Amino acid sequence: MAVRTTRVGDDRVGGDRVGIDYDDEARVWLLRTPGTAYAVACPPEVTVHRQQLPDVLLHVYWGAPVTLADAVQIATVQRSRWSRRGFESPLDGAEEYPVAGGLRFARPALAARFAGDVRSVEWRLTGSSATHDAGAHELTLEFADAYFPLAVAVHYRIQAGTDVIERWVTATNTGSAVIELDRVDSAAWTLPEWDSYRLSHLIGRWGAETQLRRQELTEGTFTTGSRRGITSHHANPWFALDDGTATEQAGSVYSGALAWSGSWEFAAQRLAQGGMQVLGGLGHTDFGPYRLAAGESLDTPVFAGLYTSDGFGAASRGWHEYTLRHVLANADTNRPVLYNSWEATGFDVNEQNQMALAAKAARIGCELFVMDDGWFGSRVHDHAGLGDWRVNPDRFPNGLTPLIDEVHRLGMDFGIWVEPEMVNPDSDLYREHPDWVYHFPERTRHQMRNQLVLNLARLDVADWMFTQLDNLLSDNDIRFVKWDMNRVFTEPGWPSNADNPARLWTDHVHNLYGVLDRLRAAHPDVAFESCSGGGGRIDLGILARTDQVWTSDNTDGPDRLIIQDGYSQLYPARAMSCWVTDVPNFLDPRTVPLRYRFHAAMAGVLGVGGDLSEWSDAELDEAAELIAQYKKVRSIVQHGRLYRLRAPSDGLSAVQYVTRDRTQAVVLAYLGAQRFGQRPPVLRLAGLDPTARYRASGFDVEFTGAALHTFGLPVRLQGDYDSVLVHLTRVDD
Ligand code: GLA
Repeated sequence: MAVRTTRVGDDRVGGDRVGIDYDDEARVWLLRTPGTAYAVACPPEVTVHRQQLPDVLLHVYWGAPVTLADAVQIATVQRSRWSRRGFESPLDGAEEYPVAGGLRFARPALAARFAGDVRSVEWRLTGSSATHDAGAHELTLEFADAYFPLAVAVHYRIQAGTDVIERWVTATNTGSAVIELDRVDSAAWTLPEWDSYRLSHLIGRWGAETQLRRQELTEGTFTTGSRRGITSHHANPWFALDDGTATEQAGSVYSGALAWSGSWEFAAQRLAQGGMQVLGGLGHTDFGPYRLAAGESLDTPVFAGLYTSDGFGAASRGWHEYTLRHVLANADTNRPVLYNSWEATGFDVNEQNQMALAAKAARIGCELFVMDDGWFGSRVHDHAGLGDWRVNPDRFPNGLTPLIDEVHRLGMDFGIWVEPEMVNPDSDLYREHPDWVYHFPERTRHQMRNQLVLNLARLDVADWMFTQLDNLLSDNDIRFVKWDMNRVFTEPGWPSNADNPARLWTDHVHNLYGVLDRLRAAHPDVAFESCSGGGGRIDLGILARTDQVWTSDNTDGPDRLIIQDGYSQLYPARAMSCWVTDVPNFLDPRTVPLRYRFHAAMAGVLGVGGDLSEWSDAELDEAAELIAQYKKVRSIVQHGRLYRLRAPSDGLSAVQYVTRDRTQAVVLAYLGAQRFGQRPPVLRLAGLDPTARYRASGFDVEFTGAALHTFGLPVRLQGDYDSVLVHLTRVDD
């Protein structure tokens, strides 16, 4: 076995050295990001219960920058503390990528079954390589089972200008017989030894996505995930762990996010003998067995990790920066203000009512007109037509061109809604291809929203899907596609692939990515929005192929602040699509001022979704004014650094965006309800240049950044649902 890694060249990023170091005696690798270090070791032998075990991959260090010499010493000291007590294995919690088998009792990242039902991996290090390409450093540690033909490559990638460490593995069957995989996580993240661990995570349901929860983890395993075939409304693949003392502004936070848009699972495991690991990857309990055929490989999705030292706010800004630089395509462009017709016309779309809405949308300053559901096949309600992607000739007798031309004449781009992964049983597509849906033979094909899920794991379905959308985009001047997905997986059967049905969980997502990638390549001017009944498919995997996400079908201003606060823990405002809709809202029938609804939606990519035909002239004028104001500050909101000044509450809450050069900032402040005549507190800002002076719109005084940080901005909000947008500009002497 030859270990080939040597030190690869350093990048200088903002004066920081970024790269990979290697000590070939101790077999320790050190990844250096601009602000952190991460080390693993694969000592030639380690002793466990008096037995010498070869090639155990150990986690050594993750945190503030250290040297390679530090990492080598830590690796030695760590092992000197190992327990030799019976009933325990020192490998538990200490390994970088724990496999099932041998002297291990903690949850494994990899569980495989070989011939003869051997459910144990014993691997050897077979090679390693470190490469450096276009600002990215990649480390690959290659292992192979000592007897069975399974190779496992453990990958790491660090990229310019970010402390995010990307991890994934590749499992390859190098033999001639099938290997069954029960679990292949992308990574196990090992935390430092702390007295206590607090988990932050995101929960929700339809209309109530990405709500932040914090809870202490005691010994045992906390699992979360999705078994619905999509990322889900119910949990989002992100975690953050701190020792219970971190705040928005201070403290060590370890966080991680999975770039995957299908079922997934995280397990945060706090061991009774000490230590904490978070394992995560694709698939849930129905994942296995995944049958890896001879010569086949499975690449797991990236599970990225980030250590930050300045609280939850800095952790979020780290993720935003990473997403903007390395995940989203075209992140440096501004997203337009869109109008979407769903809440106005529902399924009753036609040329006339869409043109009428378009005229109003243009009047208030919208730049993109998006026609939602109901334009195709026999889709005049949600019982029929899904799958038949032909323009409905009764509603659009001359096709979409007259509407699109009118939208262009009004100065807007045109966008359209599709839901390509779905079919109504009452459709030509289903009548022709009843076998194209997930189903089990002899079992009911249960419907949800009167629809079934197409088996996109099949390549013929993927090709059909690409062709439908390619035709739509080739025949019409469409610049925006809202890609919806309104039904989760049930009856996950694939009868024509009966010997490997579990593959549908992964192949569906890979083919979805494939269709999106092909469409983007064929139609580079078209932007895509990921929607799944609102925010059911928001993750770093889909963000690599879309331009924005529909955050939630819930557009109630006060609810949205909570959803947006959770969303912002990981994802950037640049991708957060928000609409202003009508009141009373259909979920929480309350009345909230138009201005407040706008201010809530201005915290991301502003859109309008109300029924403009019902808006008064005064409301349209107010909307026009607010949209004009948004356009002036949107590059700050969409590309600036986000500071959550005060979390959503019944009282005062606020978010702030600061440009990278700190010359401009935007504050959006909201008052839920005033109580007992109390004035809301002064709003302390963040992230400004303390010595620079700033002028704040709507205020007579000029303050220094220091004064704004320490004394604050005396926002004058009162009553219920009051709100304000303040634009701060640096005053040059
Ligand atoms: C989902 C979406 C909505 C709308 C409808 C159309 O619910 O989240 O925004 O597009 O589908 O059927």
